[in-house]
Amino acid sequence: MHIVTDFAVLIIEFAIVEGSFIKISLLFLRLTFFWMGTIKKIAVLTSGGDSPGMNAAIRSVVRTCAYMKIDCVGIYRGYEGMIEGDFKEMDARSVNNIINKGGTILKSARCDDFRTEKGREKAHKQLLKAGIDAFVVIGGDGSFTGAMFFNQEFDFPVIGIPGTIDNDIFGTTFTLGFDTALNTVVEAIDKIRDTASSHNRLFFIEVMGRDVGHIALNAGVGAGAEEILIPEENLGLDRLLDSLKRSKKSGKSSSIVIVAEGDKTGKNVFELKEYVEEHLPIYDVRVSVLGHMQRGGSPSCYDRVLASRMGVKAVESLLEGKTNLMVGVQDNKLILTPIEKAIKGHTKIDKELIRVSEIMTT
Ligand code: F6P
Repeated sequence: MHIVTDFAVLIIEFAIVEGSFIKISLLFLRLTFFWMGTIKKIAVLTSGGDSPGMNAAIRSVVRTCAYMKIDCVGIYRGYEGMIEGDFKEMDARSVNNIINKGGTILKSARCDDFRTEKGREKAHKQLLKAGIDAFVVIGGDGSFTGAMFFNQEFDFPVIGIPGTIDNDIFGTTFTLGFDTALNTVVEAIDKIRDTASSHNRLFFIEVMGRDVGHIALNAGVGAGAEEILIPEENLGLDRLLDSLKRSKKSGKSSSIVIVAEGDKTGKNVFELKEYVEEHLPIYDVRVSVLGHMQRGGSPSCYDRVLASRMGVKAVESLLEGKTNLMVGVQDNKLILTPIEKAIKGHTKIDKELIRVSEIMTT
């Protein structure tokens, strides 16, 4: 019955829009998808660390399903909610007024149970019970690893959308939330710089990035940092001291050193402060750990647009019978990468940007 009424609606729409080439083409596209697939109900979930732009991506998935006349279900609390059957039917109106919101309306979790076969089996049963034919997972590499195993074990169609502020996923130049997080970090550093220069102080500022230094490097260049310590390169503590000595000599009134969480000096920001105070007592040093504020806030326009594009691509890909792929962006074009490849590689640190940062500290 559902199919018959949907088809009738499509025919009526065709009659209404007759005369408009673009609309007719879109209608044919929808008709093709409609008859082609066995996928009639798609679920969407957010998983792992949240990032600004996740809500815009949920909105895009839900509205694309509505546009394609496909049912859509939101899964709450990531894979935890999948295992427990915490589902809610969503229509175009369920995602009103969320494009500008940080966090995720579907909530997120890091789920240990989904790492086990037993956990994934439970989740599979819940999806079948709810009549769900495929899902879109918005998250980082941990979330994609789970999706890949799930796909292999149950031949269940999945597509990933990269959502993490770390920008560490292979197969995309930008992950959702990275641009927003950079703007948040730069704004915070600008404020710290005001007080640093008023007191002629040196600040160590810790930013997120457990395994990668993309936030540290980009925000460091954008905010004019003196030194940037990242996991990808250990320049050593001597080099830090030399650079700080040079900076004092050249007449700089304040200095900002950005430290990624996972930097490889072997010292955290507080230990770095003590080390510098001991070796360069001329410096009055303070520490600021930016922490989880970096993950919050309203997404930038870039993240909203990217999320909207990726959501459409994810649903269309599933309807075209594609699976076990991640949507990414390269040269401003959307591309698909096997999830297995996406989780194995990290986006490489930009060597040219490292050189720029070195020149800028002259
Ligand atoms: O989302 C990735 C990340 O932001 C890392 O850079 C950071 O180390 C981690 O999340 C913190 O995660 P949690 O919120 O679970 O402490």
